[in-house]
Amino acid sequence: MAEQATTGINEPPSHHGGLENLDEEYSYYIDHYDGVLPSDLEGTFFRNGPGRQRIGDAQYGHWFDGDGMLCAFTFRDGKAHFKNAYVRTPKYVEETAAQAVKYRGFGTQVPGGFLANLGKMPANPANTNTVFHGNKLFALNEGGHPWEVEPSDLSTVGEYDYEGKLERGQVFSAHGRVHPATGDYINFGAGVSKVTLKGPQPCLNIYRINPEGVMFKKGQVPLETFPFCHDFAMTDRYAIFFIGSIVFNGMGGVMLGRKTISDVIGYDPNIEMKVHVVDLDTLTTVKSFTTDHGAIVHFGNAYEQGDEIIVDGCYQSGFEANATLTDVFNPNSRFNGGFFKRYWLNMRDGTMREELITPTECEFPTFNMGYVGRPNDTTYTAVAVANGYNGFFNGFQRISADGDCKVVTLPPGYYGSEPLFAPAKDAKAEDDGYLLEVVYDGFRHRSDLHIYRSDNVEDQVAKLPLNHHLPHQFHGYFTAKTFC
Ligand SMILES: [Fe+2]
Repeated sequence: MAEQATTGINEPPSHHGGLENLDEEYSYYIDHYDGVLPSDLEGTFFRNGPGRQRIGDAQYGHWFDGDGMLCAFTFRDGKAHFKNAYVRTPKYVEETAAQAVKYRGFGTQVPGGFLANLGKMPANPANTNTVFHGNKLFALNEGGHPWEVEPSDLSTVGEYDYEGKLERGQVFSAHGRVHPATGDYINFGAGVSKVTLKGPQPCLNIYRINPEGVMFKKGQVPLETFPFCHDFAMTDRYAIFFIGSIVFNGMGGVMLGRKTISDVIGYDPNIEMKVHVVDLDTLTTVKSFTTDHGAIVHFGNAYEQGDEIIVDGCYQSGFEANATLTDVFNPNSRFNGGFFKRYWLNMRDGTMREELITPTECEFPTFNMGYVGRPNDTTYTAVAVANGYNGFFNGFQRISADGDCKVVTLPPGYYGSEPLFAPAKDAKAEDDGYLLEVVYDGFRHRSDLHIYRSDNVEDQVAKLPLNHHLPHQFHGYFTAKTFC
């Protein structure tokens, strides 16, 4: 590991240690912990994220290019078990063997100049999210197909295409949603619907997969420009996509091997945000809205109320964060978040309005997944609170539908992640459960799993120390099933 980065003499360590590689793979019971492991917490908490930012002497050119490493915390019979394993993509396997960059990434070039990159698309590092659906566990990245992983030991099964229905070249986002009433999993990917004299026509491909894991319906939503679209929101009847002001300027340079996608991605305040409401049965757009410039990378819940659709999301009015993402160890950079907003889309008269719910900088909104598409009270997000030392997420917040907000801030030198809700066994209410938060302890260069009561987030019920650090990850998924 590189020397521990600090913010200055006698100051708490920065978040950069939490970006260092975890090359080892583990499987062990967490025997000693603080507090009491709740007896009604049972299931598996999967997480995914880049497990390494360096290969050999090289640093990847973007946080998004680190190889996907799945983790699983299993809670059963009063015990907690941890394991982690890399997804064996061709990129991971070949770069591990060579200890060198062999694949092009979102912001990483293969050494050797433009000829080494000419016409090559970024590799799929399977590093962004995970879902257990159709009795299969997947590692997801929006740059390719899902990767199937065996849930009991996290060994890689292989790339998955839903029996050929997810066609070659059709990508599958990291953010699908399971529809609670039907059990269907809805996912999407940016694509091309056809090629005309005007060139390739951009679209969103939308996929619907039944609880048995069969992709039984596909649709296409035509768009005017090739979208940056990472996530969506879903009500009982609709999928809602916000196509914002983050744009790609000059993909020709990318195809010619001279620039990366990260080089050409930018933010244009002259471009308004467009909202597409897509019927989940027909998978076609039934209403569109236009509003001011902006971008929403991650969404909370959405639901219908009278003529309106209510949508929660983390709004940002720029994309300065990309500069940080390209050089994650830069001591002068910080990770920017968004701000939690609520939108009201009137399906009758086509108007929309919005409201800033809380002024705290935040990202990674999560909520009780049993409430997808129907009115819910509570959303959780990671937060970045100024404490003089943070350049990263350093806590979380619990936001109620009435706007009440409780922020829990970690001490300087500790850094948080996406807080994920896990329902208690036999839960009776929406917030009957626990909030699971992986925290990087910069002082010890170790990570701990913090467990809080979700209805009283200041009540930390347990802290489970790992034997090592866990590189900062993106997203997770909780299932009541256990596999080991
Ligand atoms: Fe994401």
